Amino acid sequence: MKAIVQDRYVSADGAVRIEDVRAPDVGDDEALVRVRAASAQVYRWDLPAPMRSIGRLVAGAREPKAHIAGLDFAGEVEVVGENVTRFQPGDAVFGWSTGALAQYVAVGEDALAPKPAKVSFAEAATIAIAGFAALQALRKGRVTDGHDVLIVGASGGVGSYAVQLAKAKGANVTGVCSTDNVELVRSLGADQTIDYTRADFVEGGARFDVIVDMAGNRSLSELRGALRPGGTLVMVGQSAIPASQQSWSKALGRWLRATVWSLFIDQRLVALIPSRGHEDLLALEAGVEAGDLTPTVTAISPLSDAPQAIAGLVEGHGRGRAVIEFPDRSG
Ligand SMILES: NC(=O)c1ccc[n+]([C@@H]2O[C@H](COP(=O)([O-])OP(=O)(O)OC[C@H]3O[C@@H](n4cnc5c(N)ncnc54)[C@H](OP(=O)(O)O)[C@@H]3O)[C@@H](O)[C@H]2O)c1
Repeated sequence: MKAIVQDRYVSADGAVRIEDVRAPDVGDDEALVRVRAASAQVYRWDLPAPMRSIGRLVAGAREPKAHIAGLDFAGEVEVVGENVTRFQPGDAVFGWSTGALAQYVAVGEDALAPKPAKVSFAEAATIAIAGFAALQALRKGRVTDGHDVLIVGASGGVGSYAVQLAKAKGANVTGVCSTDNVELVRSLGADQTIDYTRADFVEGGARFDVIVDMAGNRSLSELRGALRPGGTLVMVGQSAIPASQQSWSKALGRWLRATVWSLFIDQRLVALIPSRGHEDLLALEAGVEAGDLTPTVTAISPLSDAPQAIAGLVEGHGRGRAVIEFPDRSG
């Protein structure tokens, strides 16, 4: 099968290539999925800095052990193992798996959900990983009806889902992004937008019940200043900090300071450590089915253009997710 292979933790120039590799074996508890589309993600970009370092220990100190890139995908079930009960050949599904940028993935059924009929394979391929982070960040922030919620990084993969999920919970949402993405963030349902190239949310005087921060470039005191008493800051990522300047020790230090600080103040400062649970996958599927969530796809590239498309991703800036499409049976 064709797969997008990476030899190392690539830099923004995107050292990936298309190769013929052996298709995965299918275990008794797994389904073999023919991938129709997968998010354009390589290992370096799917984790915040400290998690990336831990990931290196788990996945390979110098090179990712799983040489095939990718994490979230959508496709069609081709074969099921004998213990699989929820899916059968021909089912359209979406989900997550390491090595998702390949024509086939073998996946446990807890990492799969039925693809909502109203979205394309390309759209469904953007849901799992960014959706988990958005859903869990809002849960961690205890976002509820009537809350004023600030989403910093509202146009990106995670933020575009967080805006919609917060609106679905009845929150009043303010989205922070750059000029080009203001209209997108409004169209996702944000009640207000702040263009970070022209205005500074920490100086604007507005106060929020919850801040979900994907950018990671403001100090904890600045972020506290934009929170109401009793409010919660959820630290999700560091998209505003170039990868070359991110470090394990800085991020861990920030998380530790936030944890200790939270013990002595009337605000909660918490970091998101994401999980990839089946219940959350089903909640995201239900959100799409109910019309609360519409995936935002920046660009769709055919498999043949994948190396260039991945190399062209601009680190830290996004309009939803870019997607790589795999040929269907006729292709
Ligand atoms: N903890 C987790 O579970 C988890 C899961 C997934 C991702 N992450 C992390 O979360 C972060 C966001 O991920 P993503 O996939 O959504 O990234 P993305 O698609 O690249 O989006 C980044 C977002 O940050 C915004 N941004 C960039 N510079 C900014 C600045 N100076 N001030 C305010 N906003 C700024 C961008 O806005 P413009 O494009 O308009 O500039 C865009 O909305 C990354 O650091 C990622 O590693 C964490």
